[in-house]
Amino acid sequence: MLHGRRVLLILSGGIAAYKSLDLIRRLRERGVAVRAVMTAAATHFVTPLAVAALCEDKVYTDLWSLTDESEMGHIRLSREADLVVVAPASADLIARMAAGLADDLATTVLLASDKRVLIAPTMNLVMWAHPATQANLATLASRGVVRVGPGSGELACGEIGSGRMAEPAEIVTAIEQVLQAPPALPSRASGGGEVGGRLAGRRALVTSGPTREPIDPVRYISNHSSGKQGHAIAAALAGLGADTVLVSGPTQEPPPPGVQLVPIETAAEMLTACEAALPVDIAVMAAAVADWRVESVAGHKLKKDAKGPPMLRLAENPDILATIAQRANDRPRLVIGFAAETEDIVENARAKRARKRCDWILANDVSPSSGTFGGDRNTIHLVEGGTVEHWPVMTKKEVAARLAQRISEYFDRP
Ligand code: CTP
Repeated sequence: MLHGRRVLLILSGGIAAYKSLDLIRRLRERGVAVRAVMTAAATHFVTPLAVAALCEDKVYTDLWSLTDESEMGHIRLSREADLVVVAPASADLIARMAAGLADDLATTVLLASDKRVLIAPTMNLVMWAHPATQANLATLASRGVVRVGPGSGELACGEIGSGRMAEPAEIVTAIEQVLQAPPALPSRASGGGEVGGRLAGRRALVTSGPTREPIDPVRYISNHSSGKQGHAIAAALAGLGADTVLVSGPTQEPPPPGVQLVPIETAAEMLTACEAALPVDIAVMAAAVADWRVESVAGHKLKKDAKGPPMLRLAENPDILATIAQRANDRPRLVIGFAAETEDIVENARAKRARKRCDWILANDVSPSSGTFGGDRNTIHLVEGGTVEHWPVMTKKEVAARLAQRISEYFDRP
């Protein structure tokens, strides 16, 4: 789906710039035209020559280059792309973007751009946690800038924590998701990452969308989940100020601004991404995880032959909700699951809550006549300990807002 698309890649200064070379290679392999702009700092980490060779295009570094301005001009540079990707996005560049500065070619292009912007931040963990950086990220989110990563792990500075740039494969998937989706209108309701909101200082993990379980390199097993409910919940939690990680399978939904998107495909990848996001205060598992995967995925495309159709042997996927709800040392304080049912909705949901050991379960009717799967509306029965609340039919956004409200009330209690 990326073939023929145009990406303007802005590299700022960070050791992770070397990963951007791999990112360019992967984008080029998928038929994407990549034009690169490098900040002065970026040129200390990778050479413009290497970037140009991989892009098979000229690299732009200087706002004051007479030749570049007469041939291309920074306005054209910013407009002749489907998407602007900033990778690596350093703390400094994020701050300059948030302030609306235009003091070099990268920031001028960003300020003059009318295209969607995806950033892949990278920095030291203390710089990442600094209130200035977090406020800058919230500002960018409120303007609709989408973020992928950073991940946690060992950083180039030797410390361990958040700040590692997302891997090139994750950035490519995020690019696909952003380009697939219609532009998101930035607003508080759609996840402005409100600083000082009722969930400020809380961290939330949300899963969304379907998973895809490969059969061979070109085929997979999946389901009709649209990701609408999970994405709306991530947006609503971020809207109340929660630091929100959204682990999502492939969907047509725009990644909500202000959330950290971790794109995945399989259930196993979803579990790894969820465990990497811990510790969190709140976990809401809204994904329609495929219950089974193909036990041995073929390394080549399966061909028709005289022996007839292949037999696919399935293996059970990990239960992500149950795994997170039963973590020994870092179980989130509030773990919420969904129960997709077609009959005996509340009874089945009660049993599911007990079996998976989550705190709340949102039971919904997903029989085809309900229109829940893929539709915009949902009818929820909230099952807590002994009580059940029957919510009226609502849009998925209203369900998300009500749930976020209930969650914030839960955390208001001592
Ligand atoms: N879930 C999960 N991992 C799985 C399967 C489900 O995290 N491998 C989560 C879903 O995100 C949802 C909840 O578990 O929050 C219930 O999902 P549902 O599909 O209703 O239940 P299943 O466990 O698949 O049970 P069944 O198919 O028997 O109804």
